[in-house]
Amino acid sequence: MTVPVWQYQESDHPGADFDSLAEIYDRNMQKFRDIEGEVREILDFLDLSPDQSVLEIGTGTGEFAIAASGYCARVYAVDLSAGMLRYAAKKARVRGVSNVEFLPGGFLTYNHQGAPVDAVVTQVALHHLPDFWKQIALLRMAEMLPAGGKLFLRDVVYSFDLKCYESSLNGYLARAREKMGPKFSQSIEAHVKREYSTLDWIMRGMIERAGFDVVREEQKEGFLGSYFCIKR
Ligand SMILES: C[S@@+](CC[C@H](N)C(=O)[O-])C[C@H]1O[C@@H](n2cnc3c(N)ncnc32)[C@H](O)[C@@H]1O
Repeated sequence: MTVPVWQYQESDHPGADFDSLAEIYDRNMQKFRDIEGEVREILDFLDLSPDQSVLEIGTGTGEFAIAASGYCARVYAVDLSAGMLRYAAKKARVRGVSNVEFLPGGFLTYNHQGAPVDAVVTQVALHHLPDFWKQIALLRMAEMLPAGGKLFLRDVVYSFDLKCYESSLNGYLARAREKMGPKFSQSIEAHVKREYSTLDWIMRGMIERAGFDVVREEQKEGFLGSYFCIKR
């Protein structure tokens, strides 16, 4: 696909080099997050039926996509990183899952072929885009869904009191260091310094402007936002 010269280059994203880090990333996330609980929460919201299909963008190590495959006909699991896709596809094979299609692509470049999907899921990935491009990505996700289709979006979103931003960031980093060690908390420092996490009210505004109703919103520890959305 040829992209305009002015389009944000998704492959230049300032996050970690996921091509070489898939295994370490997977291990860290299993320890830092409640992955099983997160997946259950999304599946409860999507309430999939066996004939439906789901698109996940920024699938990473494929935990959600593989779990969702047991509840619907097909999962399209998209990611920019060839290393992540390889790792996730191997995990699917080992778990005997054959109805997940792992596809290279990004928020701004993936073109969905075939039958429209019933739901779109994206977790901890949209912050790789600056806000203008996040809005374009959300509009593209809306285009891929019918009216009534569901979007679940979770990401690092800042909802702490901005007047105390220094103590909020330092507190979060200290908790991460305590739980995961210094290397991991350094990766969060780099996230804050260089990546494009935005404010909770901006994220909600962008989702709504893309044509979704946010039927539920959760903010955890001032850093992780979850948005349960239905396309108008
Ligand atoms: C922090 S990981 C999150 C992975 C997984 N969704 C999770 O919840 O653990 C971010 C993922 O987004 C992918 N990514 C980064 N920029 C992207 C883009 N513009 N479009 C699609 N995926 C992207 C990365 O390759 C990486 O696999």
